[in-house]
Amino acid sequence: MDLSTRYLGLELRNPLVASASPLSNTLDGIRRLADGGVGAVVLYSLFEEQLRREAAENAALADAGSESFAEALSYLPPAAGAEPGPRRYLNLLERAVAAVDIPVIASLNGVTTGGWTDYASALEAAGAAAIELNIYYLPGDPLLRGREVEDRHVEILTTVKAVVNVPVAVKLSPYFSSTGEVALRLDRAGADGLVLFNRFLQPDIDPETLTVTGGFGLSSPAEARLPRAWIALLAGRVRASLAATTGVEEPADVAKYLLAGADVVMTASALLRHGPAYAGVLLEGLSAWMARKGFGAVAGLRGLLAVPAGTDEAAYERAGYVTALQAANRGHGPW
Ligand SMILES: Cc1cc2nc3c(=O)[nH]c(=O)nc-3n(C[C@H](O)[C@H](O)[C@H](O)COP(=O)(O)O)c2cc1C
Repeated sequence: MDLSTRYLGLELRNPLVASASPLSNTLDGIRRLADGGVGAVVLYSLFEEQLRREAAENAALADAGSESFAEALSYLPPAAGAEPGPRRYLNLLERAVAAVDIPVIASLNGVTTGGWTDYASALEAAGAAAIELNIYYLPGDPLLRGREVEDRHVEILTTVKAVVNVPVAVKLSPYFSSTGEVALRLDRAGADGLVLFNRFLQPDIDPETLTVTGGFGLSSPAEARLPRAWIALLAGRVRASLAATTGVEEPADVAKYLLAGADVVMTASALLRHGPAYAGVLLEGLSAWMARKGFGAVAGLRGLLAVPAGTDEAAYERAGYVTALQAANRGHGPW
């Protein structure tokens, strides 16, 4: 069975990619993911906040002067003694690249256009095969206009593209008035890949304790419907590779994303639930399904159920909605 695929111009042995999660936060975790069989791994994110903190610490050290070594040491801000996040990240990235024979993709997570994006070049120098930009941006300011939010995405992408030669993917939110147009803009601005979609941390309310509760739950397969619909719409309409993320639990979930047109299918929750070796179960299940359906290669099935080129997308979506609603009314009514 030929599971090979291309993502961001990289040749992958199969389309299953471990997305950023605590599993890719340690060398042991990354090794186990590679041993489990994934085609590539995305490191957990390095956050803009960590980079800004380190820059501030470095500036404080420089300001402190160094008339004598002992004196300079006494100026050290408290956090500077510990290994800062960015240095640890580069170190992990370098060791991961040396330890596994699959592409290691670094992940930068931020929302502003500032000097932090320059750090992408350090990730490239440390051996990242590509960079995934997770633009985790929830515009809480009700006066902020949608176009400004969209422009911010394009600016962050272009700033990073300007400093690296490796491919850059953008991990997007689904919360735009016109997600498709944002995807096309990023594609035109040079995104090598689009990762659909970010999952946001949505606070809950506990009515017993009268408190706001946080937490980042694992996903369920039903959540895959939204990213899958967008992948089906964008497949063949953008030059960028398409990566699916959210809601993979069974091999069938991987197959569905590929049929919709994804170049790779990412998974975090399933691997966190069942362990990195579960990648092998997903891949075996994918191969078994392909054999049962008569597919010899991933390339032969990708995008078979994407929205056909030349379709009036709006009419297509509306027709699907109306038909589904009519069927639901027949099934559940009368109230
Ligand atoms: C505990 C946890 C930590 C995560 N950390 C990151 C992260 O650092 N950067 C990132 O881009 N995504 C992060 N994600 C999101 C995942 O990469 C993935 O996009 C999301 O969970 C949806 O995929 P899934 O349904 O397979 O879990 C995290 C997810 C989980 C569950």
